[in-house]
Amino acid sequence: MIPETNKIYEGNCIEIMRKWDDNSIDHCIADPPYNISNRKGLSWAFSKHITIEEKWDSFTREEYIEFTREWLSEVHRVVKPNGNIFIFGSYHNIYDIGYIVNEMDLKIVNSIVWFKPNAQPNITCRMFTESTEYIIWVCNENKNKAKNWTFNYEISKMLNGNKQMRNVWTIPYPSKKERSYGKHPSQKPIELISRIILIATNKNDIILDCFSGSGTTGVVAQSYGRKWIMIEKNPEYNEIARERLKNVHLEYPKQLVDTELDLVYKE
Ligand SMILES: C[S@@+](CC[C@H](N)C(=O)[O-])C[C@H]1O[C@@H](n2cnc3c(N)ncnc32)[C@H](O)[C@@H]1O
Repeated sequence: MIPETNKIYEGNCIEIMRKWDDNSIDHCIADPPYNISNRKGLSWAFSKHITIEEKWDSFTREEYIEFTREWLSEVHRVVKPNGNIFIFGSYHNIYDIGYIVNEMDLKIVNSIVWFKPNAQPNITCRMFTESTEYIIWVCNENKNKAKNWTFNYEISKMLNGNKQMRNVWTIPYPSKKERSYGKHPSQKPIELISRIILIATNKNDIILDCFSGSGTTGVVAQSYGRKWIMIEKNPEYNEIARERLKNVHLEYPKQLVDTELDLVYKE
């Protein structure tokens, strides 16, 4: 079947995507579980920082690899050839994900380092403060056949003071305002998702987010006239996403004039 656009599907993304036609999506942004919840570490009980202690984030390594193979194979099938796939991760899971992308012989266009200047401090003082996450930019085609992936070069420059954009992005955690619709432990900043959507997709493209959490992808896609499809298994997170979508309001990028990008952006 053809998936419906501008709709949140509630449930397991692997089972849901299995029902969809091949090549029915233009691009995908995937922010899968990081597989860090079951690791023993320091308690943050006295910290105001959020830690991830969620059931959705607990796998053995073998389970995680198998889970990644399954969802990524479905994404590969439903996304059109040469569509963009952006996959988020931290050092805990990004190497396993990269291994599977290579196993599937897909083209890696770039990796992006997201530097969080306001990352939480390391209270052990025995290592560096972990303040980066990674995004693998994949073109949905075999390495030697990949071509013509969407990259809006002029927009990337415009978003970067008219200079060529580098692959290290300094963007703080979501502001209080962005998080005011409810708590999600790994909500992504609007600014970060905006960069991806403006640079790597075009108006009216269909963007899938198969682990949509608080709905950041849908909020940004809606703001910039893209179609979106989100899948999230937790009804509480979907409630947050629905509230955010009711109030789509974008402050980024401030330096762009609306008409330059023909933004459809409403409160
Ligand atoms: C890292 S978070 C995504 C956060 C999101 N990018 C945001 O900005 O809010 C991963 C999400 O995937 C969901 N999830 C985990 N396994 C899933 C599955 N098999 N199918 C659908 N959603 C799943 C979790 O409930 C969680 O909300």
